[in-house]
Amino acid sequence: MAFEQQPESLRQKVQQWSDEAIAQSDPTAWFERLYIAADGNTDQVPWARLDVHPHIQDWLSQHGGRGEGRAALVIGCGLGDDAEALAALGFAVTAFDIAPTAIAWCQKRFPESPVTYLVADLFKPQAAWLKRFDLVVECRDIQALPLTVRSEAIAAVASVVAPAGTLLVVTRLRATEAEPDGPPWPLSEQELAQFGAAGLQERQRQVFDLGGDPMIHQAWVEYAATG
Ligand SMILES: C[S@@+](CC[C@H](N)C(=O)[O-])C[C@H]1O[C@@H](n2cnc3c(N)ncnc32)[C@H](O)[C@@H]1O
Repeated sequence: MAFEQQPESLRQKVQQWSDEAIAQSDPTAWFERLYIAADGNTDQVPWARLDVHPHIQDWLSQHGGRGEGRAALVIGCGLGDDAEALAALGFAVTAFDIAPTAIAWCQKRFPESPVTYLVADLFKPQAAWLKRFDLVVECRDIQALPLTVRSEAIAAVASVVAPAGTLLVVTRLRATEAEPDGPPWPLSEQELAQFGAAGLQERQRQVFDLGGDPMIHQAWVEYAATG
């Protein structure tokens, strides 16, 4: 369900918590607050689908193939469904989130999982992760962060893709460079171009209409590392 279609009470809470976090110059602070408040109820996590994201599934069906032990990293993994889908295909998956309650939730949902779930901050990437992952999946995380930290987020995501690796980004798109209201704050073409500046080349993109007025556009964009 798109954020705009969530119950008004939940949208108001998210807006308030996000506004407060930004006012305190800590734009990621509200995620842990939201997971704690949800208290195990997935209806209170606006992005929870309890299944692999359909755009990731779409890309995997077309391009993913078998993982064959290749290293995959799922950024901002939320409740873990995308990480589990990659593990089921045979990728060796590391999945991290800044919110400890989200990671504990993943571990509770998938106690036998082969996925390595970790609490970590995208803005402090581990040195051992740099240029290490054959497949990096970033689904709706950058768009959940305000424009003030966008370039830093894009650079951090790009930094963990292996020299011959692939990055898959699932994000909303916006048509102009003007600052949108958020969260979420859809990505612009200039922002997506920053992946190119960070050594990644766009290989393919598929855009989906999510409905709404004005129409919400969401895409998966596949990038290849250029070395
Ligand atoms: C909008 S949710 C999307 C979750 C998941 N990727 C999905 O599509 O269901 C954004 C997620 O990114 C996490 N996150 C936000 N900032 C982060 C950071 N700096 N490092 C790691 N995770 C972060 C949040 O805790 C949250 O789980």
